Amino acid sequence: MSGGLTDRAVAAGLNAAVAAPSIHNTQPWRFRVRDGGFDVLADHDRGLDVIDPHRRAMYLSLGAAVFNLRLALAAAGHTPLLVPVSGDADQVARVELGQRRMPAPGTRLLAAAITRRRTNRLPYHGAQVPPGTVRELRAAADGTGAALTALDPVRRAAVLGLTWTADTRQRADPAYRREIIAWTGQDGARHDGVPAQAFGPRPATSAVAVRDFGLSVPHQQRQTARFEAEPQLLMLYGDGDDRAAWLRTGQALQRVLLTATVRGVAVQPMTQALELPDVRMLLAGTGAHRWPQMILRIGYGRAAPGSPRRPASACTVPRPWQRRQRAPGAA
Ligand SMILES: Cc1cc2nc3c(=O)[nH]c(=O)nc-3n(C[C@H](O)[C@H](O)[C@H](O)COP(=O)(O)O)c2cc1C
Repeated sequence: MSGGLTDRAVAAGLNAAVAAPSIHNTQPWRFRVRDGGFDVLADHDRGLDVIDPHRRAMYLSLGAAVFNLRLALAAAGHTPLLVPVSGDADQVARVELGQRRMPAPGTRLLAAAITRRRTNRLPYHGAQVPPGTVRELRAAADGTGAALTALDPVRRAAVLGLTWTADTRQRADPAYRREIIAWTGQDGARHDGVPAQAFGPRPATSAVAVRDFGLSVPHQQRQTARFEAEPQLLMLYGDGDDRAAWLRTGQALQRVLLTATVRGVAVQPMTQALELPDVRMLLAGTGAHRWPQMILRIGYGRAAPGSPRRPASACTVPRPWQRRQRAPGAA
């Protein structure tokens, strides 16, 4: 128990937070439970220096974890309050508990999707996600400093072309290859990174340049498959391009991903074009929400395998050894 926060609420909140998606499954978060609330901290040791030098993707990932934490608390009958943070440079958010409140059915439904959600890197089959469901996904992003747009055929072609360009450039860069290899394919040996079972097949054509996580695996050992000729793409724009904005947009992203899970819609982020500044610049929007933060491929497909997570206990601070370090000589 920490300041009125029950052990059950702590476990629910932390287990939900660590289930969030993160760039290359880096899980760049730490949590501190104190004074009846949760501090969420960035773990900069888990940053990706090659594709994410400014930590944009890291903060989107942290935003997704913050959203899961808030949602799990709401589903457990608490009112989660995001309170301003100051002091600790690594702290990105603080969530405290407000009054107890009966969760709305929609909140429970969304929270139940947290552990079912997965990134689906398989080809999707023919059926289009209907306009009503796309509207629901767009509404899930509303009111949170982000806006989700369904790409029309012209913009889809442009985004696919730029994704191919970015992907080709990245794969030609030895530093990019080293980074992706460091975070992939070590099945069973660790609780982060993308395992081989989640790589998905290599696309048979260059039309949809999904990210190749299997760079260390010889091509002849990889399966290839035909992806959608005209994939359905969504673009998530944010209302700013600093850490606070990324954190807001990450929360919107997670609300969209969980809504998709509830509706049985498969989703794969495809963010290579947003990782090269000169390419990303070409995707800028207009109006208040003009910073492109996420590209999503959506559709219907076979169930995708999951990726591992570090247990919540491995992501909380202070850990026992840190406590010992802070109090030398203590019994
Ligand atoms: C900011 C961000 C960017 C991502 N970019 C990609 C991407 O380009 N391609 C991809 O297949 N997955 C991408 N992902 C998905 C992560 O790889 C995935 O969340 C992580 O491996 C954990 O797997 P899970 O989502 O199935 O739990 C991205 C996720 C985030 C949060």
